[in-house]
Amino acid sequence: MRVLGLETSCDETAAAVVEVDGAAGERPRGRALSDVVHTQADLHARYGGVVPELASRDHLQRALPVVDEALRRAGLELSDLSGIGVTSGPGLVGALLVGVQMAKSLSAAAGLPLVGVNHLEGHLLAVGLEDSAPAPPWLGLIVSGGHTSLYEVRAPGRYRALGHTLDDAAGEAFDKVAKLLGLPYPGGAHVDRLARGGDPRAIAFPRGLSTRPRAEFDFSFSGLKTAVLQHVRERGGVPQGQELADLCASFQEAVCDALTLRAVRAARAARLPALVLCGGVAANSRLRALAAERAGAEGIALHLPSPRLCTDNGAMIAMAGALRLARGERAPAQLAADPGWRL
Ligand code: KG4
Ligand code: ZN
Repeated sequence: MRVLGLETSCDETAAAVVEVDGAAGERPRGRALSDVVHTQADLHARYGGVVPELASRDHLQRALPVVDEALRRAGLELSDLSGIGVTSGPGLVGALLVGVQMAKSLSAAAGLPLVGVNHLEGHLLAVGLEDSAPAPPWLGLIVSGGHTSLYEVRAPGRYRALGHTLDDAAGEAFDKVAKLLGLPYPGGAHVDRLARGGDPRAIAFPRGLSTRPRAEFDFSFSGLKTAVLQHVRERGGVPQGQELADLCASFQEAVCDALTLRAVRAARAARLPALVLCGGVAANSRLRALAAERAGAEGIALHLPSPRLCTDNGAMIAMAGALRLARGERAPAQLAADPGWRL
């Protein structure tokens, strides 16, 4: 199957054409024939976060050129495709609407089948674009600017939510702390870079683990964010030099400790032999190292998709779209955006 994937749920306008083998099977494998991502990071940088209204407007301008470019790079026309998958939730409603309306129009004009795709299913299935994709069942840790969740992937299309963040997403915590420290948006990668020269044990920050008894695999990062703010206030301002590096390393250690501890514990409890990291924060160097260390100690196979597949992209939406199309799913003409769609 050759599927066009379209993604506009947040601040990336992305389109990709993916060739998928065994789309309806246990282990769909995909090869991206093209993968075009236009990021709006610069547009939102001066506001220190995504401005929904600006995101929608930019998607409206970029969506068609990005799709054209994806088709051109794949050397294909719409009539060569088997279908279209589009992110229809969760995400920013105005941003989603642009992609959904665009996909419906292309589908109607070219007579191609269309499915609405859950963005989180896309993140989970992105690993199928790597040569080393694991066979299910496995545990997926989605860590991005908007999400922090643990899912048991029993088979493609069959998921069980094991845990979520109760407040901020991990990437959101990175970005808010970076903003507090005067670093550019999005700040996760800047914190990561500064932390490399710092001592992770310099400051004992809270680990952000929820204390609710029923929330064994849930996360909480807002207390940690407040602790960083308090630390900065108490020392009379944002530190510089080595002290800033130590602060970044200590904060990052608290986030990565909480994420890897819970992920490994969940994998053990559900007897899942493999762990896959997905989402933008999966690019974090300390998270990758600590996950490798802890998964390795438990005999859990760790899969780290390339950073390009971890951040928002059209190829992952094409993968999830192929699965849905192969099973005969079709979006109704009334397909709407579902900003709060739960996987
Ligand atoms: O998946 P993504 O591209 O977009 C969504 O949020 O869906 O993730 C973006 C998030 C941002 O919060 C960004 O700061 C974070 O991923 N991020 C990182 C790193 N690279 C990106 N966080 C920590 N360390 C990094 N190296
Ligand atoms: Zn995402």
